[in-house]
Amino acid sequence: MRLTALSKEMIANKKVDVMSANPSNTAQLEDRRQLAASVLARKNRQSPRPESAIYSAGSKTFDVRNFSTYPEVKAFNQQVALIAECGVANPYFRINETITGHRTQIEGNDLISYSGYNYLGYSGEPSVREKAKEAIDLFGTSPSASRLVTGEKPVHQQLEKALASFIGVESSLVFANGHATNVTVIGHFLNSDDLVIYDELSHNSVIEGCILSGARRIPFSHNDVRRCEQLIAENVDRYQKVLIVVEGAYSMDGDVSPLKQLAALRRKYPVLLYVDEAHSLGTIGRTGRGISEYAGVKPEEVDFWMGTLSKSLASNGGYIAGKRELIDYLKYTTPGFVYSAGITPANAAAALESLRLLESSSERVARLNANADYFREKALQAGLDIGPSRDTPIVPVIIGDSKGAIKLSDALYKAGVNVHPMFHPVVPPEQARLRFFLSSEHTREEIDYTIELIKRYIA
Ligand SMILES: Cc1ncc(COP(=O)(O)O)c(C=O)c1O
Repeated sequence: MRLTALSKEMIANKKVDVMSANPSNTAQLEDRRQLAASVLARKNRQSPRPESAIYSAGSKTFDVRNFSTYPEVKAFNQQVALIAECGVANPYFRINETITGHRTQIEGNDLISYSGYNYLGYSGEPSVREKAKEAIDLFGTSPSASRLVTGEKPVHQQLEKALASFIGVESSLVFANGHATNVTVIGHFLNSDDLVIYDELSHNSVIEGCILSGARRIPFSHNDVRRCEQLIAENVDRYQKVLIVVEGAYSMDGDVSPLKQLAALRRKYPVLLYVDEAHSLGTIGRTGRGISEYAGVKPEEVDFWMGTLSKSLASNGGYIAGKRELIDYLKYTTPGFVYSAGITPANAAAALESLRLLESSSERVARLNANADYFREKALQAGLDIGPSRDTPIVPVIIGDSKGAIKLSDALYKAGVNVHPMFHPVVPPEQARLRFFLSSEHTREEIDYTIELIKRYIA
C-alpha cells in the first residue's frame, strides 16, 4: 500500500483527522483506508502475527488463540450442552432479589430455598445488619490496605478474640475470603519437604493449597481412618512435616469426620491435624461449637482450626484458629494475608455479631438440627436415597444420572423450590444429586411440601 503525496501532506497538515468517525467526503475516506492499510502493513512487517498458533503433542491439538478448541473449554461446553439437552433453563447465576435464607425471590417469585448457607438465618437478622452498617459509618467500606500496615480496625481484633474464645484456642487470624484461606495457609505452611494426607472429598480450596505448597500429596478414601493411619505409618519418617487435612462436615455427602479417631492418630504419630469447619461451625455440637464439641475432642488436639465466615456466621471471610505462636507466624508471613487487603469492617462486624448471637443462644442450632433430622426422616420415608448424610444440615438426594438431577431441579424450581443439581465431575458419575442445605428457619410445612414434590416427580 502507498499513500499519495496529497494525502500524506493533508495528514501532516492535520487537514485530515484520521481519528474522525465521520470523514467529510469520499476522498478523505479513501485517504483514511489507505493510511490504515499502510500502518497495518508496516506493523505486520515488524512483528509477523500468524493467524493461528497450533499446539500439538500426542493426541492433544488445539489453537492457542482459539479458546473454543481447548480440550478444557470443549469439556465445559459439553456440560453446558447437557443442560440444554434436558430442555431446561440454565439453573446457574439466577438473580436472587432478596436476602437468601430459607426463602428467596427469583424473577419476582417467592421460593423455598435450599441453595444457600444461611444455616442459622443470621444473614438478614436485624442486629447483624445494624452492626455491619455501624462499621461502615465508623470505618468506611474498605480496610483500604493490608491489615499489616494501615488496614487494621478494632473490629478485626475483636472478631479474632471472639473466634478464638468460642472455638476454645489461644488465638485466631481472619482472612478476607474462605477459599483463599485454605489456599494461602496450606500453600504457605507446607513445602516440598513435607507431606499432606487428605480426605479424598476435601474441598477444592484444600486441594489448591496442597498443590501450591509443592508438598507430596496423598488422598485417602473418604473417612477411612485405617487407610489414613497406614499412609502415616509408611511415610512419617520420610518428610519434615506431615499434615492430615479433613473437614468437620462434608458438603457433598452431609456426613461428619471421624475426628476422635483422627485425634488419636495425632497422639500416636508426630503429625499435624488441619480441620476445615466451613460447614460444621455453628451447625453441629450442642452449642454450635462444631466438630470438637460433636466428637468430644479437646480443641487443642487440632493444630489448625480453619473455618469460613460465609455460612453460619452470615458474612464473608475465613479464619485459622490455634496456638498463639502459629497464628503470630501466619499473621506476619502468609502471602494471602500480608499482601492482600483485610476483610472489610462491615464483614468483620457482621461475623462478630453473628458469633455473639450464637454464643448467647443455641436455640437456632437445635432448630437447625431438628429440621435436618426431620428432612432426612421424611426423605427416607419417601424412599429417597440420601447417601451417608447424618447429623449435619446438608442432605443430598441422590438421583443417579445427571439429566435426571437437572430435570428434577428444574421441575422443583417451577413448583417454588430452589435447589441445585450436582453432577459429574463435581460428584462421581451416576451419583448426580440435588443438594439440600437446611436452615433453622425452614418450617415443617416447607419441608413436607418439598419432599412431597420430589416424591411426585420421581414417581
Ligand atoms: C469445606 C469448604 N471450605 C472452604 C470453602 C470456601 O469458603 P468461602 O465460600 O467462604 O470462600 C467452602 C465453600 O463452600 C467449603 O465448603
